Amino acid sequence: MRSLIDIIDLSVEEIDSLITTANDIIANPDKYCEKCNRKKLATLFFEPSTRTRLSFEAAMLELGGSVIGFSGADSSSSAKGESVSDTVRTVGCYADIIAMRHPKEGAPMIASMRSSVPIINAGDGGHNHPTQTLADLLTIQREKGHFDHLTVGLCGDLKFGRTVHSLIHALSRYEGVQFIMISPDELKIPDYIVHELETAGIPYTETRSLEEAMPHLDILYMTRVQRERFFNEADYIRLKDSYVLTPEKLTPAKRDLSILHPLPRVNEISVAVDNDPRACYFKQVLNGKFIRMALILKLLGVE
Ligand code: NCD
Repeated sequence: MRSLIDIIDLSVEEIDSLITTANDIIANPDKYCEKCNRKKLATLFFEPSTRTRLSFEAAMLELGGSVIGFSGADSSSSAKGESVSDTVRTVGCYADIIAMRHPKEGAPMIASMRSSVPIINAGDGGHNHPTQTLADLLTIQREKGHFDHLTVGLCGDLKFGRTVHSLIHALSRYEGVQFIMISPDELKIPDYIVHELETAGIPYTETRSLEEAMPHLDILYMTRVQRERFFNEADYIRLKDSYVLTPEKLTPAKRDLSILHPLPRVNEISVAVDNDPRACYFKQVLNGKFIRMALILKLLGVE
């Protein structure tokens, strides 16, 4: 039994194989529509979600399985004080696999230590979000055909943005990748990640200027300022519109730039950018469902 808590729980070869399966699902969906007959996925979401929860559920339904779960802490016994460990031991009696989102960093890891079925971390606080990273990687692979030698701009809330943390860990394992971290000083990437990049000798620069970074980028990964993780509203209001991508700001960008965003978007990308062929964020949503199908198959050990 295996869980996915951190993206580096998967080797580069395993990620390649998930991408191969996802591409095969896209090409031959009928082959997969009964693979999870009689299997159940539980989605335990203690925090709001649209894409992640629904894409897990759609993924399991498209594999022929079924889904149970809850979409808010208030509708589960955690509101009565039940521990995450007891919740997953209970749900393991009903479901074959669990996708869990929790506001506390490390909660899915604790859950995986007590669970009788695989746990998938669907986002833990400001920490990690490995399945969003799988969606990002499938998108980059389909757009660019490779991960090596890419210059990746990460823009916005790099402090609390868990998708960015997992993506850095995943892309750091490929040859010649470099990062340009674009954020206000208050929302810079956490020190522990900077330390990991330095120890591994991975090139990165930090800047406040999206304009300066733009011409160099192969990938631009925009993020939302994570309001729910701020200690006070005044800071959020001051920082929320630090970056707004518009068609004009894309003028100096490469013609084959790929613009990604894990969504939801608030203000960071003007809707006028949506028609630009370089905008990939809605393809990313669809890719998220296919790669989650591949992941469910792998963790359930279905051939
Ligand atoms: C992200 C998340 O929940 O971390 N959303 C998602 O899962 N696609 C990003 C965000 O909420 O800003």
